[in-house]
Amino acid sequence: MANASIFRPVAPPRIIEDAFTPDQHARMLDIVRRNGPWSLILAQHFKSPEEVVATTSGSVPEGFKPTWDMFLSPVFRGYFGTASTPFYPEIEDCFFNSRFLALVRDYWGAKYATPENMLFNIQGPCSGGGSPHVDATRFRGVSMQTTPIWLMNIMVKSNLFERWRAKKAQVITWYYKGRIGGGFTYWPDGPFEEPKQINAPMWGRAVVVENEKMFHTAETNGPAAMRRPEGLAIHSMMEADPENAGGWRITTDSKVIQKIPEEEFRFLVHWGADIFMDMAEFKRAHDHTDDLTHEMIFDIILSDLRKRGESFATPADPLTDTAFIGLLTRVYDAGQPTIFPPEPVEREAA
Ligand SMILES: [Fe+2]
Repeated sequence: MANASIFRPVAPPRIIEDAFTPDQHARMLDIVRRNGPWSLILAQHFKSPEEVVATTSGSVPEGFKPTWDMFLSPVFRGYFGTASTPFYPEIEDCFFNSRFLALVRDYWGAKYATPENMLFNIQGPCSGGGSPHVDATRFRGVSMQTTPIWLMNIMVKSNLFERWRAKKAQVITWYYKGRIGGGFTYWPDGPFEEPKQINAPMWGRAVVVENEKMFHTAETNGPAAMRRPEGLAIHSMMEADPENAGGWRITTDSKVIQKIPEEEFRFLVHWGADIFMDMAEFKRAHDHTDDLTHEMIFDIILSDLRKRGESFATPADPLTDTAFIGLLTRVYDAGQPTIFPPEPVEREAA
């Protein structure tokens, strides 16, 4: 039985306006225009279509051959900074952002926050509503570098590892003038409740949020005929269009497959922080006095499975045992959103 209360953020998302000054926005956009081309989000996270499937379920069902085509979506990404390090001195004030730090501390009721990462998504028209997700998280002692994402997903869904889960918050900001969709859809009361939407057009509108614990997705945007450019491939790139001030273009193997006018360009800036409720928690995180190990993780999971009365053969290698992974996927299924807002309506062009 899915436990819907697992996927609710620590507090209702808070919407703010004018997250960045016009000058900050201009400097961020200038970096994106000057430093492309940028690759697909999908290409940055996965090496094969099988890996996309395995990320949620731990393994690929036998006889099933996924293709990139099933997952391709023309949304591109780049990083302004990671590991608390800004990559562009021109926008250090956006990264070490006192206003954002105050917002996320207040959101959690926490004493301390550290800017952790800052990235951007850029895109033209795209269909969106069908891919609600929660963002990947980590735990003390457990990160993407040491542990497969499917296991970290199970750890979140099981709710057995909250003591070790890294507390995080984000400020997500949008710049999008398009007139068809392009908002943000989110399920703040859990995946089985009504979603809410932050609607476009928006220019500097932002949300303070905990996206590791709340299903969310971009709303479909732009003219339907442009949402899936012909020739889009896993290695497609997006960059400023040198022939059109303010415009953009998508290329595949250096061939232009789509030109995106400025008014259809959607720019999302994601700023993420680590949160520490108090000095004791900050120290636990940095002194590594209370880290999880893989052995501890499986001890906790196995004892929970026994408590639930599940019968199973103790796996020799739980990280690769497909029958065991299948059991975890079934037992800790926490559900997916079931109620969706209507798709945006495309009005006749005047
Ligand atoms: Fe997300």
